[in-house]
Amino acid sequence: LAGFEGKHFISIDKLSNEELRGLLDLSKKYRDTYGKNATVDPVTAPKPLTGKSVSMIFQKRSTRTRVSTETGMNLLGGQALFLGPSDIQLGVNESMRDTALVLSRFNSIVLARVFSHNDVLELSKHATVPVINALSDMHHPLQTLADLMALEDHFGDLKGKTLAWVGDGNNVLHDLMLGGAKLGMNIRIATPVGYDANAGVIETTKKLGAENGTEDVFLTTVASEAVKGSDVVVTDTWVSMGQESEYEKRVKEFDGYQVNASLMKHANPGAVFLHCLPRHPEEVSDEVFYSEQSLVFPEAENRMWTVMAVMAAQLGKL
Ligand code: CP
Ligand code: NVA
Repeated sequence: LAGFEGKHFISIDKLSNEELRGLLDLSKKYRDTYGKNATVDPVTAPKPLTGKSVSMIFQKRSTRTRVSTETGMNLLGGQALFLGPSDIQLGVNESMRDTALVLSRFNSIVLARVFSHNDVLELSKHATVPVINALSDMHHPLQTLADLMALEDHFGDLKGKTLAWVGDGNNVLHDLMLGGAKLGMNIRIATPVGYDANAGVIETTKKLGAENGTEDVFLTTVASEAVKGSDVVVTDTWVSMGQESEYEKRVKEFDGYQVNASLMKHANPGAVFLHCLPRHPEEVSDEVFYSEQSLVFPEAENRMWTVMAVMAAQLGKL
């Protein structure tokens, strides 16, 4: 991970395969060192980020991203500052550019959850310290690291495994398809008409898939077609943050896309289920969400090990 020092973490396609591998391995190492089963005394556990800090700009709500980053930074010896939408001048009184230049003088890393992906690009253009994209309308790369970690814990090597996405062609899907393709997974996607994944991200995924020996990306509007022959079924909310006014329209147009026991029957025996959370019953039944097949809570826990790995690697202090 030597080459990752000082780099921004904006979307999964910007990582080399070696960087992706290194971040997943470091995440597992941190779980061994700081997790519930660790044998190390927390008092004497290494604190490689002592004296470091991350400021966390949140334009939207968060449970996992906020708590995992604050707690994880603390475990590594550093400090995290939560900056909610009404805590700082940004957006009301101050530009992203000026915010980037100022926070870079105080903090070692700036993390941001924004509406428009352009905002995180603007932040990374002007910040003089590494930036972490903590979710934009286009990308959610931290989530993908946690998802791939959960899948590797379950399956081991993911090369040749098949991942099916059923639902909205959104931010969470974008990085997951990019990251899955990098690790050699076949990608199958079912989205309703008008809710497709971004065309550019599909193209990049096809290219990464070809480089890593996967089948071509399979696109359909029929949920059971995508799930056929898959080892992993993934969905997310049909109504992302910022789309609340479209709730009724979306719920109508996503009819038939719920992941439930009858849909899971089309997957391979032993298939597992993922969801980034927060979850609503319309996109996944309780029966699947709380089943033995569901990895959603280890997946959520991994958000902490993976963001710790990203921050330590950006600061070159593992
Ligand atoms: N999965 C995820 O990013 O959750 P939060 O919105 O709670 O951070
Ligand atoms: N797609 C969802 C993910 C939440 C973690 C959203 O953007 O709101």
